[in-house]
Amino acid sequence: MKVLIVGSGGREHAIATSVAKSARVEKIYCAPGNAGIAQIAECVDIGAMEFGRLVAFAKEKEIDFVIVGMDDPLVGGLVDEMEAAGIRTFGPRKNAAILEGSKAFSKDLMKKYHIPTAAYENFDDAQEAEAYLREKASYPIVLKADGLALGKGVLICNTLEEALEGVDSIMKDKKFGDAGNRMVIEEFMTGREVSVLSFVDGKTIRIMTSAQDHKRAMDGDRGLNTGGMGTFSPSPFYTEEVDAFCRKYIYQATVDAMAAEGRPFKGVIFFGLMLTPKGPRVLEYNARFGDPEAQVVLPRMKNDIIEVMEACVDGTLDKIELQFEDNAAVCVVLASEGYPVSYEKGFVIQGLEKFEGSEDYYCFHAGTKLTDKGIVTNGGRVLGVTAKGRNLKEARANAYAATEWIRFDNKYMRHDIGKAIDEA
Ligand code: AMP
Ligand code: GLY
Repeated sequence: MKVLIVGSGGREHAIATSVAKSARVEKIYCAPGNAGIAQIAECVDIGAMEFGRLVAFAKEKEIDFVIVGMDDPLVGGLVDEMEAAGIRTFGPRKNAAILEGSKAFSKDLMKKYHIPTAAYENFDDAQEAEAYLREKASYPIVLKADGLALGKGVLICNTLEEALEGVDSIMKDKKFGDAGNRMVIEEFMTGREVSVLSFVDGKTIRIMTSAQDHKRAMDGDRGLNTGGMGTFSPSPFYTEEVDAFCRKYIYQATVDAMAAEGRPFKGVIFFGLMLTPKGPRVLEYNARFGDPEAQVVLPRMKNDIIEVMEACVDGTLDKIELQFEDNAAVCVVLASEGYPVSYEKGFVIQGLEKFEGSEDYYCFHAGTKLTDKGIVTNGGRVLGVTAKGRNLKEARANAYAATEWIRFDNKYMRHDIGKAIDEA
């Protein structure tokens, strides 16, 4: 098979690494890819939103299977365009990717189908939102831009003043662009967060092993929100009891709800869960693998990823059982000092060769570029260093040891990824 992967981050490098292990795959292309992906795939200089060029490329190279990794092209309808050209593609169509693309849609869906989530109201008018905040809200309260905002469109406001400023920035100043044409205001919840990824074929859902992200930039969950500074898998807080609850009230219910709405979902549903004192609640849905969740979940998956993805496209996922290694993995993101605000790039990266050929250590590239000086830093999140271990403590020690193998100027990381496991 010839496979085309669309995307350029650590998640796509993790997907490509799994795809490369498939006995069925003879050639991998990635658009646009990065310097790490280029070691296992042929990267092509086409952006993830250049749908016409992507379809033309897939036809020209007679691609058998396309995998869309990123949210923007999914929400924008790349899967529909590939399918219209007769190309088998893994990922939700536009009418299903709205599960991630519109928070107002996903909240209404959960309400209609009684899927546990925070209480909320949707607004498309700033004055009505302000009136609600003055008269009906209790604090803290959570404001969410409706559309895609790089994971940054969520504001937790402790006071009415903060919330009014939040409405201004989302709906009036359009800090998140058109994502802020509508807004969700929802109840503030407390508890531990867990990420659960799943494969879905429109009817059947298969749950992957759990993971936990660390979204804040600094140790102790301080600092600004980022795309994710590290992950571990499995989450010791995702107990059998939590799993049973989610299977009963959340997972299949979501798949059935989408089918009932005439929006059958095929691809990956990422359930962002909060384990509140009242039980698990859905914080958000994503229509794709998490980044950097994929970097700890996929290395532990024993199945041939292409077989599972084809079953999602063909509607035969009921024939597949997912299998994960009975171990643990930790991913520590190596970022550029200053991320997520401002940072320099272009620094030479050394030590990458130490990871080559290992099954227990991986160095997934996120923001890197090959130049005549060698591979250099080219983004805020530069690399994701993943290590396995027999348990979480061992995986964490291994991952932090491996972060020392890599050297580049302005290297920054959190030192407490997976520290929560000490409390488990
Ligand atoms: P989201 O993009 O919806 O996952 O939100 C980003 C982050 O904001 C989540 O990972 C949570 O840490 C936080 N968050 C979102 N919604 C709520 C809520 N209702 N209560 C408390 N924290 C929230
Ligand atoms: N790690 C969170 C996300 O991928 O949205």
